[in-house]
Amino acid sequence: MEKLIIFDTTLRDGEQAPGFSMTVEEKVKMALQLEKLGVDVIEAGFAAASEGDFEAVKRVAEEVKNAIVCSLARALQSDIDKAGEALLAAENRRIHTFIATSPIHMQYKLKMTPDEVVERAVAAVKYALKYTDDVEFSAEDAFRSEREFLYRVFEAVIKAGAKTINVPDTVGYAIPEEFGQLIKDIKNNVPNIDKAVISVHCHNDLGLAVANSLAAVKNGARQVHATVNGIGERAGNAAVEEVVMAIKVRHDYFKGIYTTINTKEIYKTSRLLCRITGSFVQPNKAIVGDNAFAHEAGIHQHGILAHRETYEIMRAEDVGVPKSKIVLGKHSGRHAFKTRLQELGYTNLSDAEIDSLFLKFKKLADKKKEVFDEDIEALILEEFSFF
Ligand code: KIV
Ligand code: ZN
Repeated sequence: MEKLIIFDTTLRDGEQAPGFSMTVEEKVKMALQLEKLGVDVIEAGFAAASEGDFEAVKRVAEEVKNAIVCSLARALQSDIDKAGEALLAAENRRIHTFIATSPIHMQYKLKMTPDEVVERAVAAVKYALKYTDDVEFSAEDAFRSEREFLYRVFEAVIKAGAKTINVPDTVGYAIPEEFGQLIKDIKNNVPNIDKAVISVHCHNDLGLAVANSLAAVKNGARQVHATVNGIGERAGNAAVEEVVMAIKVRHDYFKGIYTTINTKEIYKTSRLLCRITGSFVQPNKAIVGDNAFAHEAGIHQHGILAHRETYEIMRAEDVGVPKSKIVLGKHSGRHAFKTRLQELGYTNLSDAEIDSLFLKFKKLADKKKEVFDEDIEALILEEFSFF
């Protein structure tokens, strides 16, 4: 059995997305819920980014007791000092320092040579050790970096003391097979790789962040960066609920890899983030969307009522959704309609009465997106004037 470390970056990369910024109090509330969810690492912010973010990292560090609290820092002494200072009160602290390693970032953004980048990365890791022995290093834009150079950077930072090396697909450009191969190649080509945990950080520009993260796990990554509801820069980051449930539901495929996430807290965590940010997930969002455990089509409803696993690969209760929903609409069948009548207490209706009500229900359903219990009560009132 091998544990997959869940590094939650909702409060850092998630918060960086337009419209998702949170106040200090909101971050603390969210961090406490993330702790209930059981994430291993909470990246609380980027302490050097602003006074507010410094304060947020500090407050989260004071309040969280079990998870490791982490701050992001560029590979600069001033950033690392801010991160270290903000994390002082944490029971368990991590500094996550990064520098870009792709040709395009080194040339146009950093204006640094590859040698200078290696030197800066090593110096940053060594300096961060002043505050904690738990230092993570990210090679920003790793996926678009030259392989040999990437191996060289990782070898150097591990030698300098980094305990985790993170491989970001910063612009969400990778395809799962390629990303999995990259992780395998890092494992096979970085000489001292067994001294560090391989981590991944995938963006969702092509809608592949979760798939890429899972391909990485299959090939040796043992930490995944993710965010609640998949929020994050541009199209977002890998969604924590999707990564965790894929590992759990497909344990046959991931063979012995597990997380210690309390999955029953998933829905609550997702909803809390929605309320705090005022931004709701789309109904068909995997795991936490309103329709994730809802069934409208008659054939599906019939199957579900006969045996849940005909159309459900996990239980709603396992992610904290009270129950799967049978939604009555124009695609619903007589079986589901009769079941709903019984749930509403109409248990003595004859087959002929149900048939007649079902015809009226179908007519109504053609005019409405969803037929609610109140609509059914109204149909019954109309049909049986003695009520
Ligand atoms: O996307 C990215 O590369 C990042 C790093 C700072 C890890 O967010
Ligand atoms: Zn990112």
